[in-house]
Amino acid sequence: MTNQSVPKRFAALRTRNTDGHVSSSIEHLGVEDLSPGEVLLRARYAGVNYKDCLAIHGEARIIKAFPRTAGIEVVGEVLDSAHQQAPRGTEVLVHGFETGIAFDGGFSEVVRVPAKHVQQVPAGLTPHQAAILGVPGFTAAMALEQFEQRGLAPDSGLVAVSGAGGAVGMLAIAILARAGWRVAALTRRMAQEPVLRELGAAEVIDSRVAMESQRPLEKARFAAAIDNVGGPVLSWLLRSMCDGGCVASVGNAAGNGYEASVLPFIMRRVQLFGVVANAPWPQRLRLWGRLAGELRPDFDKLMPHVHHLRLEELMDHARLQLQGATSGRALVTFEGAQ
Ligand SMILES: NC(=O)c1ccc[n+]([C@@H]2O[C@H](COP(=O)([O-])OP(=O)(O)OC[C@H]3O[C@@H](n4cnc5c(N)ncnc54)[C@H](OP(=O)(O)O)[C@@H]3O)[C@@H](O)[C@H]2O)c1
Repeated sequence: MTNQSVPKRFAALRTRNTDGHVSSSIEHLGVEDLSPGEVLLRARYAGVNYKDCLAIHGEARIIKAFPRTAGIEVVGEVLDSAHQQAPRGTEVLVHGFETGIAFDGGFSEVVRVPAKHVQQVPAGLTPHQAAILGVPGFTAAMALEQFEQRGLAPDSGLVAVSGAGGAVGMLAIAILARAGWRVAALTRRMAQEPVLRELGAAEVIDSRVAMESQRPLEKARFAAAIDNVGGPVLSWLLRSMCDGGCVASVGNAAGNGYEASVLPFIMRRVQLFGVVANAPWPQRLRLWGRLAGELRPDFDKLMPHVHHLRLEELMDHARLQLQGATSGRALVTFEGAQ
């Protein structure tokens, strides 16, 4: 149990919209400034997602009402709770449910959340490990489950992961490899090849290949694919799938658009579907149970690619992440994190 009391004032990265100009800076808030909820947390880790970077720099309409504390995920310790499921001292995890979008999120020393958004850190994971997985790991597990539901298994063939050097990319490689899949990592930065192989990639492909060929159908290589990038990479993946191949569209790091023809669908029965890292409770608990169990990645191999930031460093980091100049998983790490 904790001896922590609720601080009267605490630091948060607050995002404001002044006459259409969105900006973020550190402010000192009181609990009464936060969106309503029954559970107060002392944040330990807040994962930094691409979407958060867009939100705090005002580069996309992510936040629904201002002022807002962004941060779509947080791991922390319950400081105060009017809810039996999350008593004081519990280590909990919050993501999805519009956290950091319609509700104040993780970029704050103290976070207030509705009790129905809170889950305990899954048994078998430390708070730090749960934070490393966070939204990127959960997203990769959602995509994997969709492949399974469509009848695919590791012996179906190669699974491609684009944007391999990013947070979703690295976690997807580690999780899919753990599940027994042969993973082909697609990256713009071939210098990352040894790292991606160490994480579990069996092949590393320069994603510029997607710019080189424009054949209506490419050589059929992949049984499944997780695309974090969009644009020409997604187009190339669709043209490169085997018969019955499944493509999970996860991200848009290279933009929202992509060019496609119907040929992959009508000649190779390719399926394209989207993944959104939000899920009803039964699926959420099942996937976190799998991430803590049979899909649990090798955290020793991931650790060199986990970057711990102070709240003060977040804006600069986010600018670099939007430029595609970062790699791995970034966590805003608060005092007392363990
Ligand atoms: N659907 C969901 O629920 C969900 C959940 C989480 C994330 N996402 C989305 O998934 C994407 C990846 O997220 P993330 O957290 O992994 O982001 P990230 O850490 O910023 O990684 C993105 C990676 O994409 C590649 N990339 C970046 N800019 C690119 C460009 N202009 N052209 C081609 N490749 C580029 C880079 O990999 P290389 O250097 O290896 O090429 C980069 O490391 C984002 O769009 C994010 O919003 C969606």
